[in-house]
Amino acid sequence: MKTKGLTQDQQLKNKQPAGLVITIDGPAGAGKTTVSRAVAQRLGYRYVDTGALYRGVALAAMSNGIAGDDDDGLDRMCTDLELTFSKRENGNPRLILNGSDVTGLIRTPEISMLASDVSARPVVRRFLLELQRKMGREQCVVFEGRDMGTVVFPEADVKIFLSASHKARALRRFNEMAGASDQSLDQVADEIRRRDENDSGRELAPLKPAIDAVIIDSTALSIDDVVDKILEQVNKMRTFIDKKNETEKAK
Ligand code: DC
Repeated sequence: MKTKGLTQDQQLKNKQPAGLVITIDGPAGAGKTTVSRAVAQRLGYRYVDTGALYRGVALAAMSNGIAGDDDDGLDRMCTDLELTFSKRENGNPRLILNGSDVTGLIRTPEISMLASDVSARPVVRRFLLELQRKMGREQCVVFEGRDMGTVVFPEADVKIFLSASHKARALRRFNEMAGASDQSLDQVADEIRRRDENDSGRELAPLKPAIDAVIIDSTALSIDDVVDKILEQVNKMRTFIDKKNETEKAK
């Protein structure tokens, strides 16, 4: 939020404690969603699941019969696409696509693969880049995704890259989906491997840690351990900002 007449540094000084932009990137199944939600809740921050936006684009493409590599079709579709988040009573964000709540439709294996496919297309990334940056204009947000710390918010205050072994990620995803899908563990493991290849191998904004990201391997860690590690980084950054502000006040 901009305060009239104040420089960015002065605005930062007026915040108590400092409002931060936090990015949490990493491959499928690394535990980003659970951890990002918990971090946002502990800090009283907003949580934005950017993967849901790519899934929303994939769902719109599927509904309109547009192939994942049809750049012209995707471009035309994005021109009229309205994607927003709204809150329900329980506080969980809902994805609204052209006025309809599509939250329950975007977690299927087909949409996962199509989301990964459309996310490699420049027209789609351009469209969502703008949308995500608008969502980050006010601070106090936790962004979860693949390129949040590298491309969308390179100036973010705290950048985390959350990874885990392929086996651990497949098992977690399999357990999460139990009951909601008839995929076997091998099928889930295969889908994750293909998405890893897609998401890391694409030319535009590939999945990789930002050079200033803190890398956390969650293979042998509990959710609480990971959340604590991230909050440690947040506190370090707050101390750094507070010290910087004090030094500048004293000048
Ligand atoms: O996080 P997820 O599994 O819901 O994401 C679905 C796909 O969207 C993922 O395979 C890659 C893409 N994605 C992306 O390219 N950039 C992001 N910031 C978030 C997701």
